[in-house]
Amino acid sequence: MTQTTARPHAAVLGGGVMGEALVTALLAAGWTADDVDVTERSAARAMELSGRYGVRAADPNAKAVKGAGLVLIAVKPQVVPDVLTEIAPTLRPGTLVVSVAAGIPVAVYEAALPEGTPVVRVMPNTPALVGKGASAIAPGTHATDEHLDLAERALAATGLVVRVAERDLDAVTAISGSGPAYALYLIDAMAEAGVLLGLTRDLATRLAVATVEGSAALAAQTGDHPVVLRERVSSPGGTTVAGVAQLDAHGVRAGVVAAARAAYDRSRELGAAAAPSPRGDR
Ligand SMILES: NC(=O)c1ccc[n+]([C@@H]2O[C@H](COP(=O)([O-])OP(=O)(O)OC[C@H]3O[C@@H](n4cnc5c(N)ncnc54)[C@H](OP(=O)(O)O)[C@@H]3O)[C@@H](O)[C@H]2O)c1
Repeated sequence: MTQTTARPHAAVLGGGVMGEALVTALLAAGWTADDVDVTERSAARAMELSGRYGVRAADPNAKAVKGAGLVLIAVKPQVVPDVLTEIAPTLRPGTLVVSVAAGIPVAVYEAALPEGTPVVRVMPNTPALVGKGASAIAPGTHATDEHLDLAERALAATGLVVRVAERDLDAVTAISGSGPAYALYLIDAMAEAGVLLGLTRDLATRLAVATVEGSAALAAQTGDHPVVLRERVSSPGGTTVAGVAQLDAHGVRAGVVAAARAAYDRSRELGAAAAPSPRGDR
């Protein structure tokens, strides 16, 4: 890929929570404000983003994608079909379309956009808003490694980006997509336990947040298996092993596995509902 296409002009369609995170990620990755357009339904919100980041609060979606080499779709999933209909006539050949919309299969984009359009589907998660996300990117039929490189560069400032096949996105949704809710559930439970044991809620919450954050950083930085790290703080007959035995006795591990399985099944159901109907049935 040449230097000129390293940071093609980008159009972010939808400037909500995720759209704003994408704008900041592009700027952090070296795109200049002049290289980024953002579209919004509400003019006030568009002006707000323009004022905050200096990016162009663009015109309708169809006009915004005209000059773009990279289009990032960040509208709600139910709005995606309308947006694709809007942009299909003006999308330049070869423009990469990256979408963070949950649950919409690549086939929906490929059916609505001009033949040969490269599409990359992303499953991000909410820690992306603070640069600590975990996103999986999956290529469509016409997306090459260079397109995946470009998507990765655009998302780099949101946190970890991994490449998967689209069939794995339901599992990714179950682990990292829904995962922040599991981790926050654990933090809340730890804080609640602290209150039960006499700590103030504020103190217990700060301790729980720092402990989960620190444990994740320890695992990430050492690369050691979580079991090894857990054993290091579990002295024989000590407090930690007594606590962990209760987690096992109460089936917490089985609960996490069941939660992920339920999220996976739901993701598959929603994906099947969003898939394009068989040919001739549209
Ligand atoms: N938030 C997350 O943590 C998260 C995580 C994973 C994936 N996602 C995905 O990210 C996408 C966006 O989610 P979000 O939470 O950022 O939603 P959001 O805050 O509601 O943002 C969507 C934005 O798109 C605007 N919009 C609606 N129709 C539009 C159109 N035709 N053209 C341009 N803009 C339009 C909306 O404006 P109005 O409000 O005026 O309608 C809104 O500002 C979703 O598809 C979601 O599945 C989000």
